[in-house]
Amino acid sequence: MDKKTIIYKVVCTVAVVALAVLLLCGVFNGKDSMYHLKNRGDLGPLTRKDINYVSVAAPKGTGMYGNTTAADWSSVFPEITASMLANKDNDQVDDYLEQDPYLKELYEGYGFAKDYGSARGHDWTLVDIGKTARINENSLANCMTCKTPDFAKLVQTEGVGVYKRPFQEVYQQISANGEAVSCYTCHGDDAGAEGALNITHTYVLKALGDNAANGTISPSVLSCGQCHIEYYFTPADKETMMPYSGVDTMTPEAILAYYDNMVMPDGTVGFYDWIQPGTGTPMLKAQHPEMETFLYGKHAKEGLSCADCHMAIEMTEEGTVYYNHTLVSPLDSDTILSTCATCHGSTNMVQLVHGIQNRVTAEETKVGNNLVVLKDAIISGIQTGKLVEGSEKLDQVRQLHRQAQWYFDFCYVENSEGAHNSELSIHCLEVSQQKIDEALALIQSQEPEE
Ligand code: HEC
Ligand code: HEC
Ligand code: HEC
Ligand code: HEC
Repeated sequence: MDKKTIIYKVVCTVAVVALAVLLLCGVFNGKDSMYHLKNRGDLGPLTRKDINYVSVAAPKGTGMYGNTTAADWSSVFPEITASMLANKDNDQVDDYLEQDPYLKELYEGYGFAKDYGSARGHDWTLVDIGKTARINENSLANCMTCKTPDFAKLVQTEGVGVYKRPFQEVYQQISANGEAVSCYTCHGDDAGAEGALNITHTYVLKALGDNAANGTISPSVLSCGQCHIEYYFTPADKETMMPYSGVDTMTPEAILAYYDNMVMPDGTVGFYDWIQPGTGTPMLKAQHPEMETFLYGKHAKEGLSCADCHMAIEMTEEGTVYYNHTLVSPLDSDTILSTCATCHGSTNMVQLVHGIQNRVTAEETKVGNNLVVLKDAIISGIQTGKLVEGSEKLDQVRQLHRQAQWYFDFCYVENSEGAHNSELSIHCLEVSQQKIDEALALIQSQEPEE
């Protein structure tokens, strides 16, 4: 053998042995070194498949009503528990009424004109509901629905009657002894069953029926969709309820029709949240329809879920791979941002998202201010006798006003500011502007001569 062949053989042997050692380490040394390999360089970000799923029986629940709590799980899932409690660090609130002064006009006569700030981390739910000016002596316990697992458990055990109890009575008890959004909310008592998700808010099952269980909506989307949705309180029981029965009836059009056609306990038809003073328009207030907006968007079609963009999959120094339960904007997490590249390649995601949000926000400001113009036109029409109480024309104008504000609100109150589904957000603003124009034209129009 010449020198070249010997060198060639030595190099090949060393390479084969090195590869074998690496692979065997992975197999014999347990999952850890495999995960380290996976996490390296162009092998890409960690995925669900890398997670160390744990199977243990539920500990005895020490929650107010026997539900398991974060403290009960903390020794089994120390990282997950710590990361969930770190939602407390998301503590900024922007005052929407200061940022967009036209809102005070739109929500006049309703609680949101008194106090309306941006959302913050889950750990703040009980603090924030306790101090908002939207709560008054007439408020009911149904306002606790999306703030705490203890209320969800109370509804399960005592039935829908608890929604009607006075807010303060239930709040005093739960804020002293209960938890903010916690393990039980999304997992029931099954966090130990490989993190199985459970719907604990009974109205979800009531509204969606089979559609809740048949997988049309993936459990990790529906788990957030227990709260990040449009909802209302049923007129008779004051029960929290979703205004639809499946994915096909979650559009702003279908939800509006649902409210328009609702038969009220007194036999009248049409649901409203409040009557706006001055205009007399029976208004609807939309609330954070994140799930609905997401489900009609591009990413739902791609099979993504809320967790994919708001919960990072991370590894501890010891090599345990887990879902970080601090819910963040994907733009604030390099780990999450690195997963976008799988589909978006080298697109600058921050620029893409901010571009959409700037476009939607600019349009929102325009339409929001135009809604104030319409409101003023209706008030002055009534004052000058152009719009007469009881006339068909005033009824029609009010219908258009109600619709215009509904479509505006459906976009405004969605927390991604257009990022979840820019098409739907822009569609809502366009329809709103169209209804405003129709209403203004109707107010200006001459009555036909008698
Ligand atoms: C029990 C109801 C409930 C469930 C379930 C829920 N949330 Fe929330 N979420 C809230 C409430 C209420 C707030 C606002 C808290 C505050 O401002 O006091 C919030 C706030 C947030 C925020 C912070 C918003 C901001 O502007 O900083 C994010 C992000 C979030 N939720 C994402 C999720 C995701 C993702 C899921 C599912 C994994 C989920 N939530 C499940 C009720 C819920
Ligand atoms: C493809 C990624 C993606 C998916 C999937 C996704 N979101 Fe988002 N979400 C975003 C982006 C981007 C923003 C805007 C973040 C920002 O403004 O910094 C956002 C914003 C939010 C916010 C406001 C929080 C904040 O920090 O501004 C909430 C709440 C939220 N999403 C909830 C949900 C829920 C609930 C689901 C599932 C029904 C969901 N998201 C699915 C990407 C996603
Ligand atoms: C707001 C909803 C929510 C809350 C609160 C929550 N989880 Fe989760 N959890 C999820 C979602 C969503 C997933 C991911 C499921 C999926 O899509 O695979 C998950 C995954 C898990 C998993 C399996 C994956 C892993 O990382 O091991 C465990 C275990 C788990 N959670 C435990 C807990 C514990 C313990 C708590 C309380 C300290 C908790 N969760 C609180 C929504 C939640
Ligand atoms: C599984 C593939 C996939 C992943 C992963 C993914 N996206 Fe997308 N995203 C898409 C597709 C497909 C579109 C639609 C593109 C089009 O229509 O031009 C899209 C569009 C978007 C849009 C525009 C949405 C709209 O309605 O205008 C934003 C914003 C976005 N993605 C953000 C993100 C962020 C942030 C992440 C990572 C956290 C992410 N995406 C991860 C597939 C993905």
